[in-house]
Amino acid sequence: MILRVNLPMDSYDIILERGCLKNAKDLLNLNRKCLIVTDSGVPEKYAQLVASQCFAPTLVTIEQGEKSKNIDNWKLLLETMLRNDFTRTDCVVAVGGGVVGDLTGFVAASFMRGVDFYNIPTTLLSQVDSSVGGKVAVDLCSVKNTVGAFYQPKRVLIDPDVLSTLPSRHVSSGLAESLKMALTSDAELFEIFRSGTALQNVDLVIERSLKIKISVVEQDERESGLRKILNFGHTLGHGIETYDELSGLHHGECVGLGMLPMCSDEIRGDVEAALKALNLPTKIEGDIEEMMNLVAHDKKCDGGNISFITVEKIGSFEIRKLPLEDWKNIVRSRI
Ligand code: GLY
Repeated sequence: MILRVNLPMDSYDIILERGCLKNAKDLLNLNRKCLIVTDSGVPEKYAQLVASQCFAPTLVTIEQGEKSKNIDNWKLLLETMLRNDFTRTDCVVAVGGGVVGDLTGFVAASFMRGVDFYNIPTTLLSQVDSSVGGKVAVDLCSVKNTVGAFYQPKRVLIDPDVLSTLPSRHVSSGLAESLKMALTSDAELFEIFRSGTALQNVDLVIERSLKIKISVVEQDERESGLRKILNFGHTLGHGIETYDELSGLHHGECVGLGMLPMCSDEIRGDVEAALKALNLPTKIEGDIEEMMNLVAHDKKCDGGNISFITVEKIGSFEIRKLPLEDWKNIVRSRI
């Protein structure tokens, strides 16, 4: 299936097809120098399969984890391209999850003011969300996505077969991002979660999530309004994630927890049941006040006000901006 992302400047196709990795050379222009970036957590065979189809591959494996999304790795990759005589007509390919995609995309955006970028996401989270929409970045001093750009890929290849090697906890974490989109935008997709059959219908969940993501990005590429709905659950979620760095909750798990207090009393029970069906946590453990204080450092906080999304009714949303203390009161009253 081909899903088109229509944008004023840089439209592109997403190929969603089981087995498409094997046909990468027919779907992407790999007949040139290709920098392929993957990480140590991704089975080697995927990047090797892509490299075997390239005319002149250079494969770099970075260490798995958010800490790799840094300026040092960005510089290392640019230097690798320079040393290997890459030019503006060569390309960069990400084979991995959100960290690899964000870092590699930013390398593509910066090398000689921009070279072609192909994204081949291998986690469910990156397949349904981060590989589409052109947000590329690295972190600075552990502050997420401080240095980055909007730089759209030339094409995205999504092969659900690669999910067979993804640990189930990562699959659940990815599904939390789809659940996020269902809650704000697609009541029918939520029914798949409600019935506890998301795992059995993963191709359909990916497709519907991508359609939501595409529609949002087409309407608001640079996040001046509507795209903020993709941050549903992320405001408190980032606070939980930062607080919990050492015990290691996954991103999607934090997003799931972050969504709950942003849901009305009417729907919270259904959302909790959907999270439980995915084996995602539903109870915030630890000092919630501390977590909320960490949110104050988040980029969504502006002049003492905080932007966030609430869902009163499944499939609809409100974009809200309130003084930080008012937002904290909402959280306190709903946990
Ligand atoms: N993952 C949020 C966005 O692409 O805007």
